[in-house]
This record gives sequence, structure tokens and C-alpha cells, in this order.
Amino acid sequence: MSTKGQVIKCKAAVAWEHGKPLVIEDVEVAPPQAHEVRVKIVATGVCHTDLEYLYGRGKGMIRQFPLVLGHEAAGEVESVGAGVTGFSPGDKVIPLFLPQCGECERCKGTKTNQCRKNWANTQTGVLADGTSRISYQGQQVYQFIGVGSFSQYTVVPDTSLAKIRSDAPLDKVCLLGCGVSTGYGAALNTGKVEENSTCAVFGLGAVGLAAVMGCHAAGAKRIIGVDYNPDKLAKAVAFGATDCVNPKDHCKPIQEVLMEMTGGGVDYALECVGQPAVMTSAFESTSDAGGTCVIAGWTETEGLTLQIEKLLLGRTLKGTYFGGWKSVQDVPKLVDAYMNQKLKLDEFITHTLPLDRVNSAFDLIRRGESIRTVIGLWSRSDGPAEFKAPPLDDVNEFPTSGGCEGSK
Ligand SMILES: NC(=O)c1ccc[n+]([C@@H]2O[C@H](COP(=O)([O-])OP(=O)(O)OC[C@H]3O[C@@H](n4cnc5c(N)ncnc54)[C@H](O)[C@@H]3O)[C@@H](O)[C@H]2O)c1
Ligand SMILES: [Zn+2]
Ligand SMILES: [Zn+2]
Repeated sequence: MSTKGQVIKCKAAVAWEHGKPLVIEDVEVAPPQAHEVRVKIVATGVCHTDLEYLYGRGKGMIRQFPLVLGHEAAGEVESVGAGVTGFSPGDKVIPLFLPQCGECERCKGTKTNQCRKNWANTQTGVLADGTSRISYQGQQVYQFIGVGSFSQYTVVPDTSLAKIRSDAPLDKVCLLGCGVSTGYGAALNTGKVEENSTCAVFGLGAVGLAAVMGCHAAGAKRIIGVDYNPDKLAKAVAFGATDCVNPKDHCKPIQEVLMEMTGGGVDYALECVGQPAVMTSAFESTSDAGGTCVIAGWTETEGLTLQIEKLLLGRTLKGTYFGGWKSVQDVPKLVDAYMNQKLKLDEFITHTLPLDRVNSAFDLIRRGESIRTVIGLWSRSDGPAEFKAPPLDDVNEFPTSGGCEGSK
């Protein structure tokens, strides 16, 4: 039976307040308005950014509640609003937190992927008309960065949606909605890693491992993975890392260790942790002969120290958002790359859970036990999971580089 034009009742994991676990609620999802598409979400990854937004301490971002988190998803078009020409019911799609309208100066140019279509609204969790399409008993529920994929259905602007091939497995390609695309593009598009170069990747979660994969694809001859979690270091080798360094094994700052290992610094350092102290280390580990540091990690915490003379000598410091990909046009190509075995995705997935276990996915990230957990929006749970909300202070408290634990 068609649901076109009707309000859909479905399950969503709702964040009611900062620092509290998500609650599975029966929500209502309104039909798409003009230039919007309603998507049945089939699978969604859980990204560190979801965790940081819910439990992080930073004050930089306006936090809107109640909120449906989730922004790394794949699904099928359920119905389209007036004026939508590029999508039809049944199309397989990946919602995008970064739009590509194709018409603005930024979209037409090659310099940036920062299209600003609907931006001011989606950043605060609403769509073009200033409201969200998700509600709970008449109360508006915000959609995280314009997506809100911890819901069985959501509505997104038609400029924030990539149509992908019909044979793509949604429970895998959902990872291209954020983490894997970000890390892979951080190396290839933003860093523009060169053949035979030396790279260091700080933080080996999904973003970092994808960065390792990007450095490898670019033909880097040496790729040094840096993480304080030995399990992550082991995993990095499978993605192309040639060396692994655990800051805990060294008494001196990790940038000095890398300087020594490489005889003067790396050509490319990619920060994929989201911690100012690590960003400083990454920058200072680059070579003064034109080294480039790319910041992919996200944080609201201050503390990045930049020694100007290190910059003046010729180093470059860059940031990357969604790996520099032009979202609508490039995500389908990344899906093709996966389907043609040119890009790994399965190897990132360490856990799959049903929606009502989504809080456990946060726990797994915090304990460093997962790379990516994929939530099946329609799969059934075999019982409620035990979950303890993390103390708020914990979330930003990654150890900083240099620890001397078990130093050699
Ligand atoms: N720029 C973007 O568009 C974008 C997109 C997605 C995610 N992000 C950000 O990228 C970062 C990584 O995301 P993720 O989902 O891969 O996170 P994750 O939690 O899965 O991985 C982070 C990794 O960093 C490691 N780590 C922590 N402290 C460290 C330290 N001091 N030194 C070395 N390694 C350390 C952890 O052990 C972990 O393996 C987050 O900040 C996230 O918010 C940015
Ligand atoms: Zn993300
Ligand atoms: Zn645009």
C-alpha cells in the first residue's frame, strides 16, 4: 500500500537531552515538501561525531533537542515532493549532510565542496522552511545536520541526496555517507598525497583507516599509523599501513618520534582523532620541506597550538570536510569503486546492531572496541541491551600523545 502523501508512523532513536542515552520512540514523519525526498532508511553507521554531539562537552555548537542523530546512512526513496526530478520511489540513495546544488558558484568551481544550499537550516536540524519533518506527539524533533538517520524514515532536501546503483548493498555503502568518504578523500583530495611519499595517520578509527586506504591508493611508500589502541594498529596494517606507532610506547612527544623515524618529518600527516593536542602533533610531525597536515578530526574543544615559524618554513595546514568530495556527484562513484573492489567497506564493519541497541554502539566507540557499528533500522532485537550512559567528562578524554607506559 502506498504511503505517498501520508504521515508515516515509525520508530526512531530520539535524543531528549545532552548527555543522556537515546530513547526508541514512535515518531511521525511528514510527507516531503517541494524539493524534498522522503527516504526509508535501511542502514546507518554510527560516527564519532554523533557521539561527540550527544556527549561532548564543547560549547561551539548549538545543540537542539529533541533530536534524531545519525548521518551516515543508506536507504530507498519512499516518495518525492513537488518539483523533484532526479529521484523516484524505489531508488537507492545515500543522504548527505553536505549538499551539492550544482548551481552555485561553489558547486560550479573546483576549489571547494562547501555548497551552502539550505545550510543555515540543516546545521540547526531543520529543512528549508525552518521546520523538521519528524515529530513526536506533535512536538518537533530535529534532524541532525539535516539528516537524522536513526529513524526508519527521514526527509532530506533533493540537493542533499545521492542516487546510487540498484545492486549496492545498503548495509555496507551507508559508510560512504560520512566516515570512509571523509578519510579516503582527506588523503586523495585534500592532502593530494603523492606517489612514493611518506605519510602518518593519527587515529585509526573508520576515518583514519580510510585515510590509510587513501594514502595506499595514492601510492605512498611509507604509511605510519598512530594510535594508542593496539587493536587499531593491527587493523591498520590490513588497510596498507607499513609502520605502526603507539604513543604510549614513547616518553617523548610523538612528533619527535616521527621526526626521528623519517629523518626529518613526513610529507603528509592526517589527523583523524578530533583532539587539539593531536592536531598539534600531526602538524609538527610534517617535514619543513613542504609537508602538509590535513585535519579531519572534529572537535569543539580549543587548544591547537601552532608554532608560526614551523608554518613559515613552508608547511601547509589544511582542513577537510567530507573528504573534499562533491557529495552528489562523487558518492555514486565511491559506491562504484566499492562494487568494483577498488575500495574496502566490509572491513570497517565490526558490529551490526538493531536500532534499539544504538546506545551500545556509542559504548563500543568509547571503549575503542568498534571501527564501525552498522545499525539495521528494520532488524529485530533479541532483547534490550544493558547500557550505561558515559560520564560526560569521559568523551573528550582521549589520552594525549606521549605516555611512557611500557616505554622501551
Ligand atoms: N571532517 C569531517 O568531515 C569528519 C567526518 C567524520 C568524522 N569526523 C571526525 O573524525 C574523527 C574520527 O572519527 P571516527 O568515527 O573515525 O572516530 P573513532 O572514535 O572511531 O576513532 C578515533 C581513533 O582515534 C584514536 N585516538 C584517540 N586518541 C588518540 C591519540 N591521542 N593519539 C592517537 N590516536 C588516538 C582512538 O583510539 C580511535 O582509534 C572524529 O573527530 C569525528 O568527529 C570528521
Ligand atoms: Zn560522521
Ligand atoms: Zn551549491
